[in-house]
Amino acid sequence: MSTERKRKVSLFDVVDETSVSAKLSKVNGSFSFKPPAVPSGINRWNGRPYSTRYYEILEKRKALPVWQQKDEFLQVLKANQTVILVGETGSGKTTQIPQFVLEYEDVGKRSMVACTQPRRVAAMSVSRRVAEEMDVTIGEEVGYSIRFEDCSSHKTMLKYLTDGMLLREAMADPLLERYKVIVLDEAHERTLATDVLFGLLKEVLKNRSDLKLVVMSATLEAEKFQGYFSGAPLMKVPGRLHPVEIFYTQDPERDYLEAAIRTVVQIHMCEPQGDILVFLTGEEEIEDACRKLTKEINNLGDQVGPVKVVPLYSTLPPLMQQKIFEPAPAPLEEGGPPGRKIVVSTNIAETSLTIDGIVYVIDPGFSKQKVYNPRIRVESLLISPISKASAHQRAGRAGRTQPGKCFRLYTEKSFNGDLHEQTYPEILRSNLANTVLTLKKLGIDDLVHFDFMDPPAPETLMRALEVLNYLGALDDDGNLTKLGEIMSEFPLDPQMAKMLVVSPEFNCSNEILSISAMLSVPNCFLRPREAQKAADEAKARFGHIDGDHLTLLNVYHAYKQNGEDSSWCYENFINHRTMKAADNVRQQLVRIMARFNMKLCSTDFSSRDYYINIRKAMLAGYFMQVAHLERTGHYLTVKDNQVVHLHPSTCLDHKPEWVIYNEYVLTSRNFIRTVMDIKGECVRHFSCIVVHLHPSTCLDHKPEWVIYNEYVLTSRNFIRTVMDIKGEWLIDIAPHYYDLSNFPSCEAKRMLERLYNNREREKADSKTRK
Ligand code: CDP
Ligand code: MG
Repeated sequence: MSTERKRKVSLFDVVDETSVSAKLSKVNGSFSFKPPAVPSGINRWNGRPYSTRYYEILEKRKALPVWQQKDEFLQVLKANQTVILVGETGSGKTTQIPQFVLEYEDVGKRSMVACTQPRRVAAMSVSRRVAEEMDVTIGEEVGYSIRFEDCSSHKTMLKYLTDGMLLREAMADPLLERYKVIVLDEAHERTLATDVLFGLLKEVLKNRSDLKLVVMSATLEAEKFQGYFSGAPLMKVPGRLHPVEIFYTQDPERDYLEAAIRTVVQIHMCEPQGDILVFLTGEEEIEDACRKLTKEINNLGDQVGPVKVVPLYSTLPPLMQQKIFEPAPAPLEEGGPPGRKIVVSTNIAETSLTIDGIVYVIDPGFSKQKVYNPRIRVESLLISPISKASAHQRAGRAGRTQPGKCFRLYTEKSFNGDLHEQTYPEILRSNLANTVLTLKKLGIDDLVHFDFMDPPAPETLMRALEVLNYLGALDDDGNLTKLGEIMSEFPLDPQMAKMLVVSPEFNCSNEILSISAMLSVPNCFLRPREAQKAADEAKARFGHIDGDHLTLLNVYHAYKQNGEDSSWCYENFINHRTMKAADNVRQQLVRIMARFNMKLCSTDFSSRDYYINIRKAMLAGYFMQVAHLERTGHYLTVKDNQVVHLHPSTCLDHKPEWVIYNEYVLTSRNFIRTVMDIKGECVRHFSCIVVHLHPSTCLDHKPEWVIYNEYVLTSRNFIRTVMDIKGEWLIDIAPHYYDLSNFPSCEAKRMLERLYNNREREKADSKTRK
C-alpha cells in the first residue's frame, strides 16, 4: 500500500476535530488554503468552528484535478479579464473553481460571484454540495436561484443560478454590478441563454474593467470560445480518464428501451463490481425503465446481487435527486455477487452532474432535443439522435474512477456515418420570441449586428419580431412598446405574459394567474400503473367541458378549497408537490402584477360570462396558436395548415367508457345513435361488435376552433392542453392577425369570411333599426 493511501486511511479514522486539523496541516505541507487572520479551525465565512464533515470532504476535494492548478488559475485570473477553462467532467470545475474565485483578492468579502448552470437540477444540486464543502448553510453564504425559486440572501457571496436567471438579472442591472466575477459554466452545452450571455457579457466587460469572466467547458470546442473572446487564455485541466472500452451492437436495435434493459440485466449478471449509468430521454421513459429493471432483477432472485435503481430527471424532487450520490448496496453475503447502483438518467448526467463509481455506461444514442421550424412556427421537443461529441461524453462517464465499458446500442457504422460531430447550438433550433423580447428590454436594438457566436437564421429572427409585433410588444419600427416593457418583466413566454397583462381588461386576472401558474409547473395529474382507471376517473371529475386550461383551473380551485391538503391530493391522484409549486409561482406572478398596479379581479362566478371572459383573455395571448376542425374531421393549424391531432390527454375529446344507445344504424359503418354516458356498474351484457358513435351525437363533439398551449411532435403531430373558443372571438380580439387579405386559402379562411360578413350584416341591421 502506498504511503499516501495509508495516510488517508488513518485520517478517516479520526473523529476528534482538533487532531484532524493538526494531521491535515502535517500531511499537506504545501496546502495553500490560507485562512487569513482567522484562527485555524474557524470557518472564515461564518466564524463557526469547522465540522468533521468539512475535513472529510476537504480531503476528497484536494484529490480533484483542478486542485493541482489552483495557484496557476488564480494567477491567470489576476492577469486577465477573461479566462477559458477546459477540463473533463468530474475534474472539479463546477464545485471548486467558484470557491477558488472567492479567495481571489478576497472577492467574497466585498461582492458576489455568480456561476451559471444550464440546468435547474444542477444549480440546486451543486450549490448544496458547495455549501456542504464550505461548511455553511445553503441559502446563506452559498445560494442558488432558478426560475420561480430564489434560495439566496443578503449574506450570499457565491450564487449558482441558471443562465436564464442571470439574463433576467441583467434586465434590471445591465452592468451586473453586484458581481465581481461571473463564471459561465457548461459553456459547451451552448444553451440559448448562455449564447446570449456570451454576447452580452462581452459588452459588459468593455464597460467594467473590474469585472472578470471565467468560461468553463468540458469539451475542446473551447478553442472556438477563445477565438470569440479575442484570444483569452485557455487553461486545460489534465483529464484523468481511465480507458473505456466501447461496444456497438451488430445490428440496429428496434426498441432501444428494451435493449437498454436487457443490457443492464446482462451486465449485472456477468460483469464485475461497478455501478451502471443508463441514458434515456425523459421522465416517463425513465420511470418505466426503472420499474421494469427492478422487476426483472428481482425475478432473478439470489443468483445476483442487490440493486438500487435510481431515476434522474429535471422534475424529480430534490430529495430524490440526492439519491444518485448514495453508495451501491453491499452484497447480501461476504464474497457474494456484487450489489450495484443503477442510475437511469436524462442528459443531465452527461456533463452537468458527476456520479462517482460508474463503470458501465449504456448509451442508446438518443436525447430529447428542441427543434424549431420557423416556416410553420412550430417549436417542439423531439427524441433525436445525439452527436458524436455527446456519445464521447457519455462514454467518458464510465472511466472516472477505473477502466470502464460503454455499450452503445447502435452500430459502429451508424456512429461513423449518421451522427453529427457536434450538437447544434440551441439558438439555431429555437423560437426566439422570448429571447428577442429580452434583448430589446436590455436595450439591444440592432439584433442583426449583435455579436452572436453563431448567428441565428434571419428567418427565425424575423419570425420572432413578427410574433412580438402581433402581440403588441413591439411597434411597427421594432421598438419596445409600454406593453412589451411590462410583458418582459414576467419570466414567461410572450404569449402567456400577454394574456396575463391583458387579463384585468377581461375581468379575470385572478383566474388567468391560476391558469398561468398551473401551465408553468409539470403535469399535476398522477397516473400510477396499478391504479390507472381510478386515476383517469379522478381526472375526469375535474374535466371542464370547454377544455384543459379550465380543467387545470378546476384542479387549482379544488386544491385551495380543500385546504391545500396532501391527503386530498393523494385521494384525487393530484401531485401535491406540483400544486405547492404552482401556488408559489402564482404568488410570484402576483408580486410582479402588483409592481405594475395591475388589478386582481374576477367575474362573478354565477355570471354567464365567468368562463367566457377567461377564454377570451386566453385568446388575447394565444391567438397565433389556433387550430380549426376541417370537414375531414382533422384539425389544421390556422395560417400554417399543419394537420394536428388532439393529444390523448385532453378532456375535450373524452369518450365515455360505457354508453347505452337507442338505435343501431347500419350504413357503411356500424353506428349507434342517440347515446348516453352511463357508469360501467349497471352494464350486464355487452357484445363484441365494433360500433361508432353516430356523427349526430353530442357525446363526441369536437369544437370547431381551439387554442393550444403546446405542439408535440411524436409519431403524429399532437396539440396538447387545448381549449374550445368561438370563431367570432378571433375577429373581435385579434383582427390584425385574422386579416383575410394575407391569409392562405383554406376552410378556416372561408369560415372567417362568413363570420366577417355576419358581423357586417349585424352592423347594418342595427343601423337600420336605429
Ligand atoms: O464540473 P466538473 O464536472 O468538472 O466537476 P464537479 O461537478 O465539480 O464535481 C467534482 C466532484 O464533486 C465529483 O467527484 C462529484 O462526484 C462530486 N460531487 C458530489 O459528490 N456531489 C455533488 N452534488 C456534486 C459533485
Ligand atoms: Mg461541471
